[in-house]
Amino acid sequence: MAQARLMLKYWNCLLVLLFSLMSNVVLSKPSVGVNWGTMATHQLPPDKVIQMLKENGFKKLKLFEADERILAALLGSDIEVMLAVPNYMLQKMSEDPDAAASWVDTNVTSWSYPGGVNIKYVAVGNEPFLQTYNGTYLEITLPALRNIQEALNQANLGSKIKATVPFNADIYNSPESNPVPSAGDFRPEVKDLTIEIVQYLHSNNAPFTVNIYPFLSLYGNAYFPFDFAFFDGSNQPVKDGNLMYTNVFDASLDTLICAL
Ligand SMILES: *[C@@H]1O[C@H](CO)[C@@H](O)[C@H](O)[C@H]1NC(C)=O
Ligand SMILES: *[C@@H]1O[C@H](CO)[C@@H](O)[C@H](O)[C@H]1NC(C)=O
Repeated sequence: MAQARLMLKYWNCLLVLLFSLMSNVVLSKPSVGVNWGTMATHQLPPDKVIQMLKENGFKKLKLFEADERILAALLGSDIEVMLAVPNYMLQKMSEDPDAAASWVDTNVTSWSYPGGVNIKYVAVGNEPFLQTYNGTYLEITLPALRNIQEALNQANLGSKIKATVPFNADIYNSPESNPVPSAGDFRPEVKDLTIEIVQYLHSNNAPFTVNIYPFLSLYGNAYFPFDFAFFDGSNQPVKDGNLMYTNVFDASLDTLICAL
């Protein structure tokens, strides 16, 4: 799994845009958007990318940081934007409300005005509970989330812009003894912390965010049934009571819903 993830990171470096069906599922408001990573050897000019998004009808965009050049190119467009506080800043954001306020001031408030950038969400970290991080961000994610949301509230943006945490799909699973979505639960090591975050998001009317990557399931496990990673049906569907799952995306999403 770690190997697969490293490989994926490598691919992310090569690909300028991940034009995949955006796997951020903001529950209750599903739609198609684009994840735009900038760890690339050859970056496209931001204005060209924004133009491509518009021409292809994408209305939502997720960024993994708050890149000034990208934000400048988004000025005046109505594309809904999710900006992110990178993981390496979580420690500081968790312990210093002033740093959170300053992040929000520079990266959100100064762009968020009529005719500016249509910022809707701030992602606090990126998959901070990923198993391969060895727990590095477990204790600091919720305090960072709180400080960022409170900074948004203080800037009078809190009703319009919500802080959320994009989780990785490995925060939940089903037991090996009963590998069906209806038996889904959060991993024991992250269960309490995840529930606390879910409660905080709920109290703030903010969305729960998760990244479901079927290709990670496929590349992470040599025995993973190939066609189960795609939407074209499967020779090896998963039967769960009366339900039949023919792809890992649906199975994973329902596993999450049961855990929630
Ligand atoms: C704005 O966000 C970027 C990360 O994308 C960070 O490098 C920068 O320090 C932030 N600005 C402030 C004032 O925190
Ligand atoms: C997590 O621990 C493993 C094994 O000790 C180590 O190889 C890896 O570099 C660690 N990863 C991080 C992100 O600290």
